[in-house]
Amino acid sequence: MTSAAVEAVLRQAREVASGRARPALPAGTALRVGVDLGTAYTVLFVLDDDGVPVAGGYRWAEVVRDGVVLDFGGAVALVTALRAAAEEVLGVELDHAAVTVPPGVPATEVRAHRFVVEAAGLDCTAVVDEPTAANAVLQVRDGAVVDVGGGTTGIAVLQDGRVVSTADEPTGGTHVSLVIAGSRRVPFEEAERLKQDPALQPELLPVVRPVFEKVATIVADHLAQTSVPVDRLWLVGGTAAFPGVADIVQQVTGLPTVVPTDPLFVTPLGVAHHDVAHTPGRGG
Ligand SMILES: Nc1ncnc2c1ncn2[C@@H]1O[C@H](COP(=O)(O)OP(=O)(O)OP(=O)(O)O)[C@@H](O)[C@H]1O
Ligand SMILES: [Mg+2]
Repeated sequence: MTSAAVEAVLRQAREVASGRARPALPAGTALRVGVDLGTAYTVLFVLDDDGVPVAGGYRWAEVVRDGVVLDFGGAVALVTALRAAAEEVLGVELDHAAVTVPPGVPATEVRAHRFVVEAAGLDCTAVVDEPTAANAVLQVRDGAVVDVGGGTTGIAVLQDGRVVSTADEPTGGTHVSLVIAGSRRVPFEEAERLKQDPALQPELLPVVRPVFEKVATIVADHLAQTSVPVDRLWLVGGTAAFPGVADIVQQVTGLPTVVPTDPLFVTPLGVAHHDVAHTPGRGG
């Protein structure tokens, strides 16, 4: 996808997730559904045959941490609610989805993610690692996709459009918020709010810079271990939305670094591309 096409898809994702857009769905449209179970946000998107987001939503919940399902019932309830909201918007019944896991999680956790989706009434058609999912949207041929989420930083290195190595290390937005909570002496929830306030982000940058330098070091260390040359980075995940992250990653790694608008949505949209397109029944 060209960067303009990626930006257009991300803008449309924001419109449907906020409820501002409710695209008409012609009967017989084949849909793909993606679920991204994250440490901070659980996100569900539905794409039409052309890969355009037609419904979706996200909720903050601590049901999964760093790829481990901590609260199975809570995760199922969340995915069920997101599914029901999308069905209501579309007037169809959704019965299948692809789901993300962080790269390298053990098979038991891969199964747990699959079971969450299935217990929410969706046949799980694929389990995909997060940066690989993100690349279904970005379609990077050569370079690295870095997913800086709430709990971890995931990396996928691509060569000729194929993922040749992945890694996942703890450090993400939760650590950013903990640093803000410590320096401002406020509870975590308040630190989350301060962190996402665009008016405060410039003055918070010096405080949180060490966390972003750690993210950059994780990336640099992984790249140093792969034999594939990487000359450009794409940052996705909610934490990449903090202004200034790309500059820090670029300084530490020495590589040009791109952040799409609304990086939070790239991985959840990407995982939907891995679902099997399927024409659902009309809802009642
Ligand atoms: N505008 C913003 N500025 C800074 N941080 C943001 C912004 N929007 C979201 N975040 C942060 O992004 C993180 C959530 O991102 P994302 O949904 O990609 O993570 P996740 O998938 O839940 O976590 P993980 O992939 O590590 O399990 C949270 O820490 C949240 O505070
Ligand atoms: Mg994530």
